[in-house]
Amino acid sequence: MSALPTQTSPVRPPAASPGATAPGTPRTPPAHEGTAAGVLERCRALIRPALVEAVGRLHPWTGEMAAYALGWTDAAGHPDPGGSEGKGVRQALAVLGAESVGADGADAVPGAVAVELVHTFSLLHDDIMDADALRRQRPAVWKAYGTGPAVLAGDALLAQAVGIVAEAGGGHAAAAVRCLSGALNALVSGQAEDLRFEHRPWSGPGAVGPEEYRSMAAHKTGALLGCAIALGAVLGGAPDGTARALERAGRHLGLAFQAVDDVLGIWGDPAVTGKPVHADLRRGKKTYPVLAALAGGGGAARELEALLGSALPIDDETAALAARLVEEAGGRRATREEALRQRDLAHGALRESPLTPAAVRELDALFTHVLDRTW
Ligand code: IPE
Ligand code: MG
Ligand code: MG
Repeated sequence: MSALPTQTSPVRPPAASPGATAPGTPRTPPAHEGTAAGVLERCRALIRPALVEAVGRLHPWTGEMAAYALGWTDAAGHPDPGGSEGKGVRQALAVLGAESVGADGADAVPGAVAVELVHTFSLLHDDIMDADALRRQRPAVWKAYGTGPAVLAGDALLAQAVGIVAEAGGGHAAAAVRCLSGALNALVSGQAEDLRFEHRPWSGPGAVGPEEYRSMAAHKTGALLGCAIALGAVLGGAPDGTARALERAGRHLGLAFQAVDDVLGIWGDPAVTGKPVHADLRRGKKTYPVLAALAGGGGAARELEALLGSALPIDDETAALAARLVEEAGGRRATREEALRQRDLAHGALRESPLTPAAVRELDALFTHVLDRTW
């Protein structure tokens, strides 16, 4: 039996740039206040202490893996200045969700921490499911620590997230837990659909259609983004209808995000995406660009279909040719159009309820920023 690790304090994140100043000190607004970067920075500073505390409460070993997954430390548990933390989009959505319904952003803290923890957990497990060895330019947690430990670290993050929301004050904990558990169930369904699609044919009666793809992506990616905004609103005391509209906005954002992610999964520069090139194609993942290319018909689509019939995993050369054919058959263009359509639906859903205009402006800016990746 192996000894328990002796390290007790693995959590040493880099300091967030503070958004607040000491009481009485005149505040100099950062140059990018009001921009998406400014919103992300402000929300990171607000959430960071509670997030650090939450990770610090984990068992030291799962805490070390969580700190690695969050980009705070390297695989030896030392501070990693080269670690990439992720943008913190979900925590910012939660804060803005609360502010959009007239509450204080601080009311969203438990929800914001929970969605960041759930996001981290889902990526930990996703990299195992997708056999992706790299995440944000570093070995995925399962590569760095082993599959069993990575599964456990994901479990630990999930358990912590649920506990934090359950203990939220303000009389909204029960509604907030319902919101989070709904998103978790959807996320798991989406991952199930995603994995099952790998074994479905590219054409013929059992082929995956665009609507099925949308349902999968809305579940695996949209649900947590929707939950992030809605959770902030729920903790801020929003009426049900408002929380539902905000949830819808996040879900459309997720669909747009996933379309961009699918494009990057094929054509993205690995130096930017942090993921190996053509990984989705090699594994036969049913992604929007490929499905759209096949649906378009024509010579390139037929050639692509024949190519995708090759045994999995597809070799590098075949994957590169498939990527060319997807583009030729219009799959890349169609995915871009899908992303823009979902983006517009996301902005539209923000206009369904009376919300604080400043928060809506910041949500709009954040949506644009999230989708503005090099593609
Ligand atoms: C990840 O989906 C969704 C969840 C983690 C729930 P993908 O597998 O498509 O995302 P990346 O490309 O690995 O980030
Ligand atoms: Mg993946
Ligand atoms: Mg996946």
